[in-house]
Amino acid sequence: TVMSARQMMKVFVTRRVPQEGMKLLQKAAMCDVSVWDSDEPVPRAELLKKVEGAHGLLCLLSDRIDAEVLDAAGPNLKVISTMSVGFDHLAIDEIKKRGIRVGYTPDVLTDATAELTVALLLATARRLPEAIQEVKSGGWSSWKPLWLCGYGLSGSTVGVIGLGRIGLAIAQRLKPFGVKRLLYSGRQTKPQAGEVGGEHVPLDMLLCESDFVVVSCSLTPDTQELCNKAFFSKMKNTAIFINTSRGAVVNQEDLLEALTSGQIAAAGLDVTTPEPLPTDHPLLRLNNCVVLPHIGSATISTRGVMAQLSAHNLLSGLTGDAMPSELKL
Ligand code: NDP
Ligand code: DGY
Repeated sequence: TVMSARQMMKVFVTRRVPQEGMKLLQKAAMCDVSVWDSDEPVPRAELLKKVEGAHGLLCLLSDRIDAEVLDAAGPNLKVISTMSVGFDHLAIDEIKKRGIRVGYTPDVLTDATAELTVALLLATARRLPEAIQEVKSGGWSSWKPLWLCGYGLSGSTVGVIGLGRIGLAIAQRLKPFGVKRLLYSGRQTKPQAGEVGGEHVPLDMLLCESDFVVVSCSLTPDTQELCNKAFFSKMKNTAIFINTSRGAVVNQEDLLEALTSGQIAAAGLDVTTPEPLPTDHPLLRLNNCVVLPHIGSATISTRGVMAQLSAHNLLSGLTGDAMPSELKL
């Protein structure tokens, strides 16, 4: 049946996303879909223009959705679906005030992000980027007893800050490497920590005792710049810091200082402030810092499923049905 123009729902998609998601939107008869059909972010001015009158918005973590965007969209806007599990880019109070529903993508990216975190931890601890560079540059002259030695997981203590879905999946993957103790910090004791023998401890204790500190909490006012000078000063000089949550959880000046002074051994970051990190940033000149371009969830199949789930969330929001993954506001 042909819908009348009156019943058509206007949808704006802020980026080129995997076909798995686009197909679902395009075959939904009620939707008039417009897409910022590029791999690069929609400029702010374009976003404000394109969102006008929209009933649904499918966005990414790189789009800041605040009062200005919501006002530009106007009273039609019923649903915001973000193709991410993190929602720190959404002004939740403003969204709630306007009665708009929010969809997100928990669970479907947990395995991919946990795998990447393990890869980053091992790459940082065993100095893989540095080693690869030495092979290419001719620095490899012989097998040398004291050369390119790093740190191993066997017998170590790992501290996870934020034992949520991803934090637990990281712990499950690290345990089989022979981790002796698994500590975690956070607002509450997690029953699921039993699976990995996790001990809920105060943050200070986690920092003092861990050989690896892994940050996998969400970015909130409480966790913003949680990893600052005082934080790093409690870590062992031999400890490795890994962050795959959000860049703003770290005070990067303080991290830089901790890495150059020898306060901590090394850091592996999948997230930074800003993103992208400028190519002349001092962190990129350090051998003991491994920086990745926010690729935690970047497997082909995971991104496909994320796009699919965000399309389903959006469509359910438009029809007023239960969403597969609605964020409780
Ligand atoms: P969850 O909500 O399951 O986990 C977040 C955890 O953060 C919760 O368990 C919560 O524990 C903890 N937390 C909140 N406040 C604090 C605090 N003050 N101190 C310590 N812990 C805290 O989310 P996910 O595991 O699914 O995702 C976590 C985050 O990972 C996302 O918000 C996103 O920012 C990031 N992410 C990054 C990716 C990447 O590509 N690098 C990919 C996917 C996600 P408690 O209740 O005990 O406080
Ligand atoms: C998220 O979903 O929050 C990640 O940062 C990207 O997948």
